[in-house]
Amino acid sequence: MREQFQIRRGTPQDVDELVQLHFRVFDARSHYLLLLGRPFLFQAYCWYCSAPTAFTFIVEAENKIVGCATVSEDSYTAVFTHNWLALLGAFCRRPSMIMHPIVVCRLREIFVSRRQKSLGKTPHTSGYLAYLAVDRSARLNGLGKLLIEACISESSARNWTRLLTGAHSNNTVALSLYSRLGFVRAQGPNPRGLVKLYMQVSPTGGRNTSLDPHSLNQISTHLSTP
Ligand SMILES: CC(C)(COP(=O)(O)OP(=O)(O)OC[C@H]1O[C@@H](n2cnc3c(N)ncnc32)[C@H](O)[C@@H]1OP(=O)(O)O)[C@@H](O)C(=O)NCCC(=O)NCCS
Repeated sequence: MREQFQIRRGTPQDVDELVQLHFRVFDARSHYLLLLGRPFLFQAYCWYCSAPTAFTFIVEAENKIVGCATVSEDSYTAVFTHNWLALLGAFCRRPSMIMHPIVVCRLREIFVSRRQKSLGKTPHTSGYLAYLAVDRSARLNGLGKLLIEACISESSARNWTRLLTGAHSNNTVALSLYSRLGFVRAQGPNPRGLVKLYMQVSPTGGRNTSLDPHSLNQISTHLSTP
């Protein structure tokens, strides 16, 4: 049986479905963002789908979203600093969350990245790939690879020189996928078992991608289902 997958940019109209996909794919133990609740996640995807400093790619099968990847300029913390009101709302709904070790750690990172920016230490030439997710039923069809390649192409089109991401050290599937696509592990400590990865993006679309960033809306892939 052949199934048709289509990749395109995510838009604000996709956000409801993206949030549902997120809850299907991730669980709160491995993905602390779920602790912030659905309203924050909704706002975060709205931002990833509409902000000029961010973008989202989605893959659809029969008009249903089965995969996505989001990227923001700068760092992972950008989604929090640009949506601080929604973040505040999440803390008001669950005040105890502010004591959660991972939340404390992330807040510290936000503070440090804002401080570095105010000191002019971080040039905006990097993108951060987050929320890479493919529905279980659609996995092993090359969709994860397709989404990452689209993100590399778009980063190149935006003249970013680096694409960063991260995955837990026990996430062997994601780690091997990233490394096959040219990501390398960053040196230094891995707080909370998170492996940081990066790749240099070339102006011609990245080392391993042949996607034309201007024609992504028309790309459809015909791949066999398992
Ligand atoms: C990681 C993820 C996006 C991959 O999606 P996918 O569509 O299945 O990815 P692809 O089909 O492009 O590639 C999967 C590759 O992993 C390989 N793989 C599958 N299971 C594996 C395993 N247990 N160990 C090692 N490699 C494995 C496949 O063989 C394939 O490699 P190939 O291209 O050489 O055949 C998907 O598994 C997922 O959504 N996981 C949960 C969320 C997640 O971990 N996100 C990333 C970090 S935040």
